[in-house]
Amino acid sequence: MDRTNLLLFVSCSMIHLFISCLASNILNIATDQSALIVFKSQFKHDHSNVLARNWSSDTPICSWIGVTCSSRHQRVAAINVSNMDLSGIIPPELGNISFLVSLDMSGNKLHGNLPKELAKLKRLKFIGFSFNRFSWKIPSFFEAMPNLQHLHLDNCSFTGSIPPSLSNLSKLETLDLTYNSLEGMIPVEIGNLGSLKKLWLRGNKLSGSILLYSMFRHWRVLISPIITYLVIFQQIRVEISPA
Ligand SMILES: *[C@@H]1O[C@H](CO)[C@@H](O)[C@H](O)[C@H]1NC(C)=O
Ligand SMILES: *[C@@H]1O[C@H](CO)[C@@H](O)[C@H](O)[C@H]1NC(C)=O
Ligand SMILES: *[C@@H]1O[C@H](CO)[C@@H](O)[C@H](O)[C@H]1NC(C)=O
Ligand SMILES: *[C@@H]1O[C@H](CO)[C@@H](O)[C@H](O)[C@H]1NC(C)=O
Ligand SMILES: *[C@@H]1O[C@H](CO)[C@@H](O)[C@H](O)[C@H]1NC(C)=O
Repeated sequence: MDRTNLLLFVSCSMIHLFISCLASNILNIATDQSALIVFKSQFKHDHSNVLARNWSSDTPICSWIGVTCSSRHQRVAAINVSNMDLSGIIPPELGNISFLVSLDMSGNKLHGNLPKELAKLKRLKFIGFSFNRFSWKIPSFFEAMPNLQHLHLDNCSFTGSIPPSLSNLSKLETLDLTYNSLEGMIPVEIGNLGSLKKLWLRGNKLSGSILLYSMFRHWRVLISPIITYLVIFQQIRVEISPA
């Protein structure tokens, strides 16, 4: 091979590599569909299950029950499979539904780990995992979702402590952690959540009293989990009680 041919060969290989690299990163409505098929496939033996019947490859994904697409991007924007008696896990493939804004899976029997791939969902504003059985620590990856406004993790059997990294969610308005098995101190960093309007913590084993300095900017609230407190400061509500 002379020098020109070698150069040509090298640059062609590079271009090829670049294109195939690019192609593997392209996410589209077909990616959304395959992610939802993976999610559905674990329920296929349950004949009463609405997803097994309704989420058919023969019909367009945007007509599937609980699935809403954005007309602008032609991608799945919302998933609402609440109260469908689903017993299974959340597969990592869900992290590929990159235009997802709202994810409501509350009132099921989902268990296992929340996959870290969910952190790829940068557009998420609403997460509803209430009333499931994750039995694990609250993952710290929620901090990677800059647009998150509502995080409902109540009654999910979460253990461990409240991750201080939640304080990075500058747009967070609602944080519901009621009825889990959370322990330890409420991180003072939670006081940095400048947009927070509702914080629900009752039904945990959060111990001791804590002074949340400059909580919600200029308010100072003394919260003792020993007693049930319902503090309403303007539109801000803090509710705490022992387990
Ligand atoms: C799935 O459910 C939607 C909404 O209820 C309905 O419009 C659609 O016809 C159903 N599709 C099938 C295949 O059952
Ligand atoms: C999901 O659907 C349920 C039942 O229709 C509804 O009550 C709930 O508000 C919906 N969730 C979201 C985030 O819209
Ligand atoms: C979707 O995500 C899974 C797991 O995170 C990954 O293995 C797969 O390659 C992704 N699919 C596409 C089409 O990008
Ligand atoms: C939590 O949810 C379970 C069902 O998943 C229910 O049986 C239990 O009563 C709930 N606990 C509270 C305190 O609401
Ligand atoms: C997220 O929060 C943690 C704990 O408060 C902090 O150490 C970290 O620097 C924050 N990260 C970003 C990106 O703000």
